[in-house]
Amino acid sequence: MQKPYIFITRALPESVVRLYRDQLNIEMWPEEQEPVPRKVLLEKSAQADGLLTMLTDSIDQELLEQTNSLGIVSNLAVGYDNIDITVAKEKQIAVTNTPDVLTDTTADLTFGLLMAAARRIVEASEFVKKGEWGPWSPLLLAGSDIHHKTIGIVGMGRIGEAVAKRAIGFDMNILYHNRSRNKETEEKLEATFTEFHELIEQSDFIVSMVPLTSETRHMFDRATFQRMKEGAIFINASRGAVVDEQALYEALVNKEIAGAGLDVFEKEPIEADHPLLQLNQVVCLPHIGSATRETRIKMMELCLDNLCRFFSDEKLLTPVK
Ligand code: DGY
Repeated sequence: MQKPYIFITRALPESVVRLYRDQLNIEMWPEEQEPVPRKVLLEKSAQADGLLTMLTDSIDQELLEQTNSLGIVSNLAVGYDNIDITVAKEKQIAVTNTPDVLTDTTADLTFGLLMAAARRIVEASEFVKKGEWGPWSPLLLAGSDIHHKTIGIVGMGRIGEAVAKRAIGFDMNILYHNRSRNKETEEKLEATFTEFHELIEQSDFIVSMVPLTSETRHMFDRATFQRMKEGAIFINASRGAVVDEQALYEALVNKEIAGAGLDVFEKEPIEADHPLLQLNQVVCLPHIGSATRETRIKMMELCLDNLCRFFSDEKLLTPVK
């Protein structure tokens, strides 16, 4: 029997991929750093039985409608806002993502971002490296405490819960907001369900963990930032477009909030001259939430396992609902 033809849109380590070549006829875009050009992606997906995609690939209506034999899109990310799920469903194309395997890794980074922003770690490191360190002084690079403060987690899914677990270690008061209330989570994590506006007003640290949907796009807008405490620090490790970046910038320069830690941006990569990057009180990362070697390999294996299962009529491990 002919092996299904799988196109992988980025060069993944051969040490991982080779274990699947017995079952799958795999072709990979040869570049690790550069995304596959749209034209090539369209051509390949028109012929492919399965795709293994990155969050930078737009698997939209145009692409899905011109496929011939495509049965599955296996996305190397927990978020799948890069895929038109409605059209995939209409075309009966299965979609999978990579939850669970990246939960703790992403929560570690999110909490690290919070700590870096609160304690001005990146700014302080730059200060030392640039030779600006003069005499010790009482308020030199003084930041904000983390312990015993209030953290407000918006989007209490798996990663949100893992962030809350870390907050417990810092004796933080935990508020959360989610589409649905989860009593079990509340008991387990001693977290309090709070209406969105109350959470925004009461939290010292506001952490966005919401997926990007039509409802969450720009949910952190001018009015939301204006409700935050003056000393609040805003952390985003979900998707850039949940934030109106102009509104965030205004809140920071007008000192309506104290700082931000951002792993994601509306446009990635963000331009080097973007106003947000000029602010010392902003810590910026290049979308590396799940980027540890161990976790990225687990994500790749999960994508490939889902592909193998699909073509051997086995239950998918992580189908997107
Ligand atoms: C995801 O999996 O959605 C993350 O953003 C990738 O780091």
